[in-house]
Amino acid sequence: MRKLLITGGAGFIGSHVVRLFVNKYPDYQIYNLDKLTYAGNLENLTDIETRPNYHFLKADITDAAVIDELFARYEFDGVIHLAAESHVDRSIKDPLAFIQTNIIGTVNLLNAARNTWKDNMGEQRFYHISTDEVYGSLGEEGYFTEETPYDPRSPYSASKASSDHMVRAYFHTYDLPVLISNCSNNYGPNHFPEKLIPLVIHNIRNNKPIPVYGDGKYTRDWLWVMDHATAIDTIFHRGRIGETYNIGGNNEWKNIDLVQNLCDIMDELLGREKGASRKLITFVKDRPGHDKRYAIDATKIKTELGWQPTLASIEGFRRTAQWYLDNESWLEKVTSGAYQNYYSEHYSHYK
Ligand code: NAD
Ligand code: TYD
Repeated sequence: MRKLLITGGAGFIGSHVVRLFVNKYPDYQIYNLDKLTYAGNLENLTDIETRPNYHFLKADITDAAVIDELFARYEFDGVIHLAAESHVDRSIKDPLAFIQTNIIGTVNLLNAARNTWKDNMGEQRFYHISTDEVYGSLGEEGYFTEETPYDPRSPYSASKASSDHMVRAYFHTYDLPVLISNCSNNYGPNHFPEKLIPLVIHNIRNNKPIPVYGDGKYTRDWLWVMDHATAIDTIFHRGRIGETYNIGGNNEWKNIDLVQNLCDIMDELLGREKGASRKLITFVKDRPGHDKRYAIDATKIKTELGWQPTLASIEGFRRTAQWYLDNESWLEKVTSGAYQNYYSEHYSHYK
């Protein structure tokens, strides 16, 4: 039986990973460790929170003493590390929070895992979830492979790059059994509405302007979040120790094309006149240091582990838009801040 620590499980991707593991592996004990920052929302997990193999630990990965104590108490033998500050625009305003959580927090986890496992290093796994943004910015041509040199350009991507380097350093220096994956932009249910896709859906729903940065010709490779969760499951169980795997959707969109597409889907779902929502598109001042294009070559994970994305983008965007319309109370609580009461209301026994 595994005792698996998943960090950042109350966030967007983490909540899908926690649900997948709790359902698929009833023999594992799943410990979801999360600080519950503005991005952490336990209402993402109400459907599995009473399962006997699910446990929630409210903790901050920047606090080394607490992390050491939790490793000593629970003796985790696997870690899937997703906790992070994740929004580029916030990193431009406050880089230090990204250094603390993404770099120091990761090193605290590495140290705790090493100390717990060092006398019996074997079947354990320390799996670090990273981003394609560490590779920098592409021109019109080419793809990021696992060999692409790191060239991060935002405080967010620089902090993730730094944490990736530390994870590799612990593999080479201390033989810590690590895995790393670098994934493209995710989308789907439970995405915090500061990121492009949920923000656009929310603003269309409320007839608010849709801010498109710069000329809107920036390109991202979008992956359905559940496909990322299955890739994480695959790599955690079958990935080769010390290896890096790129994960992508093979699904590139220029921001403006994606936004127009979402406008048309929303017009249809809301019964609005065709073209109505496109009128909300507003070009705004560009993001400083805005990376032009990200695109992933996911050949390695496909050929080595047999993983590939399952959902076509138009179907995925439609499903996402429908989820937000069906879950207006989730969105309402997130935008009003009410979701932050959930922990104190439902987890008072933890205090
Ligand atoms: P998110 O912002 O939705 O969730 C992050 C979670 O981490 C939240 O629940 C938050 O409360 C928690 N957290 C933050 N600081 C913490 C701390 N100090 N201690 C404990 N918990 C803390 O992020 P996400 O979009 O779900 O991303 C998850 C991971 O995947 C991140 O490491 C991110 O870099 C990576 N990633 C994200 C994407 C994407 O498109 N969203 C793509 C590739 C990789
Ligand atoms: P985002 O969802 O913040 O992800 P990332 O910056 O990590 O790729 O942004 C996706 C793209 O959308 C990026 O090119 C910036 C752009 N964008 C806008 O044009 N308007 C917005 O309001 C936001 C949040 C992003």
